[in-house]
Order: sequence, then structure tokens, then C-alpha cells
Amino acid sequence: MAQVFQPRSNAIVRIVFIGGACLAVAVLVMAVAFSGSPYVTGAESVPQQPVPFSHQHHVGGLGIDCRYCHTSVDRSSFAGIPDTQTCMTCHSQLWTNADILAPVRESFTEDRPLAWKRVYDLPDYVYFNHQSHVNNGVGCESCHGRLDRMPLTQKKSSLSMKWCLDCHRNPSPELRPSGAITAMGFEDLSPEESGQLVAHYGIKTDRLIECMTCHR
Ligand code: HEC
Ligand code: HEC
Ligand code: HEC
Ligand code: HEC
Ligand code: HEC
Repeated sequence: MAQVFQPRSNAIVRIVFIGGACLAVAVLVMAVAFSGSPYVTGAESVPQQPVPFSHQHHVGGLGIDCRYCHTSVDRSSFAGIPDTQTCMTCHSQLWTNADILAPVRESFTEDRPLAWKRVYDLPDYVYFNHQSHVNNGVGCESCHGRLDRMPLTQKKSSLSMKWCLDCHRNPSPELRPSGAITAMGFEDLSPEESGQLVAHYGIKTDRLIECMTCHR
């Protein structure tokens, strides 16, 4: 049987292979650098919403607690997004003719929920639970930032695995007393106070970095 590859073409094949391998490595390096960039992780991004809802006005200005609207945050995995009824408890009397609120009134009279776009969204293969965090001393601010200063809701963390693990390895500096979970602009505690909270909540970090905690 005739040889398919002559010695000369062998050398060419080798060069093509080595070149290909180098290119593959370069592509991989670029892909990794790219996947960590804010462009891909969506950190800082602001999606276009059906109504320009302002946490700055409702939380910072009016002082409404997060749990008034995100009612299930300390009772389930999901924080929950308020229904139109919740908005209408005030807006059936306040700003009743404002154009900016027309989609809210339509949603109410037509009994059709507002289509809010997700700001924070983990892949389906990651398990997350709000209740486990907010009932164990982790405040909203640690993960979602200063909502009281946001005219439009902005993503403030990458939600990368590294981001979760950085805190899971040592959550103590992020802990707060249970009365301050929804507070904004919370001042850091001293290491002694933080240490007392670790004991108070009974937090054990070894379990928190096991794969099964977040991938089940
Ligand atoms: C008056 C009702 C109201 C209050 C009070 C409120 N929110 Fe919201 N929140 C909303 C609405 C409506 C949305 C959906 C629109 C948006 O993303 O801005 C939302 C969205 C969010 C999101 C993004 C959800 C997503 O799509 O991933 C976060 C995070 C959030 N709120 C946190 C908070 C925190 C923390 C507080 C308290 C400091 C708070 N909210 C208080 C109504 C409220
Ligand atoms: C507890 C009462 C209350 C609730 C509940 C409430 N609002 Fe408001 N909202 C107000 C007040 C008061 C203003 C006027 C704010 C100002 O001028 O500072 C306002 C203003 C607004 C504005 C005008 C722009 C701005 O932010 O000033 C929009 C849009 C709005 N609200 C949307 C909503 C939506 C959507 C919901 C439901 C998720 C909601 N509000 C729930 C009291 C409320
Ligand atoms: C440890 C970090 C962390 C803390 C603390 C935290 N959140 Fe979240 N939040 C997330 C992540 C991650 C998501 C996306 C969840 C997903 O995609 O499954 C999210 C999603 C949300 C959403 C969108 C709806 C939902 O349930 O997925 C709202 C609203 C919200 N958070 C509000 C709050 C409020 C209010 C608090 C404080 C009472 C809070 N969060 C505390 C990390 C956190
Ligand atoms: C700012 C700190 C912080 C961040 C960020 C954080 N966590 Fe946590 N997480 C904690 C603490 C504290 C606990 C409670 C530990 C306990 O119950 O002993 C916890 C508990 C959990 C639990 C429940 C564990 C169990 O078995 O009871 C899950 C699941 C979890 N985290 C997933 C995540 C994921 C996924 C992310 C990233 C998207 C994340 N966490 C980001 C601090 C954090
Ligand atoms: C504290 C929560 C947490 C723990 C513990 C954790 N992961 Fe993840 N993991 C995540 C999150 C969040 C993502 C999604 C990352 C993203 O979307 O960028 C992820 C993504 C992944 C992916 C998808 C590929 C990638 O990197 O995007 C793999 C594979 C993975 N994890 C494996 C593991 C293994 C193996 C362990 C145990 C050694 C582990 N994870 C422990 C939160 C966790």
C-alpha cells in the first residue's frame, strides 16, 4: 500500500499541529480573560425595565424596608419580585396620572404581571438560597450593593464561583446582627464583634466550600 504521507509532508503536518496547539492555547487564554471581564459577567449592567423603578426613591427616600416588596427573602430560596398589587397600595392614590406609571396601571386593570427583566441570574446548575444567608447574618448589601443609591437597579457582583467561594472561605467580616440585614451603609464591625457573630450563628466554613453545597 502506498504511503499517504511522505517524510516531507510529515514535517508540514507537524508544523500545522504545533501551530494549531499554540493557537488553541491562545484562544483558551483569551476566552478565560474574556469570561472574567465585566462585559461577560454582566457586573454593573443595567437592563431596560418596563417601568424605571427606583430603589433610590423607594428605599433611600421613602425608607420602605426590602421585605415589604421582596416578601419571601427570609423564608425561602427566592427573594420574590412584588406583584402590581403591591405598587397599587400606594399608586392608586399617589402619582395616579403620571405617564411614567401607565404600564403599572395597565398591568393592574388588565390583570397582567409586569415583565421585569432579571438583573441577577445564576445558571440552573447552581443552587442558591436567600434564607440561608439572610438568617445567618449576611446582609443584602454584601451581595447587591447600595440599592438606596440606585435610580435603576444595577448588578453589583459577578456571581462567579470565585466570588461565592471568597466569602464562603471566610464569611466573618461580612456578618451583621439580625436587626441590620436590610440596612444600607452598614459600618464594618471589629474582628472581636465579627467573631462573636460567627459563634452566634454557628457558622462552620468547612461545609461551605464543598461542591455539593452549590451543585446538587
Ligand atoms: C417598593 C418596592 C421595593 C422595595 C421596598 C425594594 N425593592 Fe428591590 N425591586 C423592586 C422591583 C419592582 C424590582 C424589579 C425591577 C428592578 O430590577 O429594578 C426590584 C429588584 C430588585 C433586585 C434585582 C432583582 C433581579 O432581577 O435580579 C434586587 C437585588 C433588589 N430589588 C434588592 C432590594 C433590596 C436589597 C431592597 C432593600 C434595601 C429592596 N430591593 C427594596 C421593588 C422593591
Ligand atoms: C409605600 C408606598 C409606595 C409603594 C408601595 C410604591 N411606591 Fe412608587 N412612589 C411612591 C412615592 C411616594 C413616589 C414619589 C417619590 C418621590 O417623588 O420621591 C413614588 C414614585 C414612583 C415612580 C416615579 C419615579 C420615581 O421613582 O420618583 C415610579 C415609576 C414608581 N414609584 C413605581 C413604583 C412601582 C413599580 C412600585 C411597585 C413595585 C411602587 N412604585 C411601589 C410610593 C410608593
Ligand atoms: C449571599 C449573597 C446574597 C444575599 C445576602 C442576598 N442576595 Fe439576593 N440574590 C443573590 C443571588 C446570587 C441572586 C440570583 C439567584 C438566582 O439566579 O437563582 C439573587 C437574586 C435576588 C432577587 C431576584 C429574585 C430572586 O429571588 O431570585 C431579589 C429581588 C433579591 N436577590 C433581593 C435580595 C434582598 C432583598 C436581600 C436581603 C434581604 C438579598 N437579596 C440578599 C445573592 C444574594
Ligand atoms: C458575603 C458572603 C457570602 C457570599 C458572597 C455567598 N455566600 Fe453562601 N453562605 C454564606 C454564609 C455565611 C452562609 C451560612 C452558613 C451556615 O449556615 O453556617 C451561606 C450559606 C450558603 C448555602 C447554604 C448551605 C447549607 O447547606 O446550609 C448555600 C447553598 C450557599 N451559601 C450558596 C452560595 C452561592 C451559590 C453563592 C454565590 C452565588 C454564595 N453562597 C455567596 C455567605 C456567603
Ligand atoms: C459557594 C458555591 C459554590 C461551590 C462550593 C462550588 N461551586 Fe462551582 N460554581 C458556582 C457558581 C456560582 C458557578 C457559576 C459560575 C458562572 O456562571 O460564572 C459555578 C460553576 C461551576 C462549573 C462550571 C464551569 C465554570 O467554571 O464556569 C463547574 C465545573 C464547577 N462549578 C465545579 C465545582 C466543583 C468541582 C466544586 C467543588 C470543588 C464547586 N464547583 C464548588 C458555585 C460554587
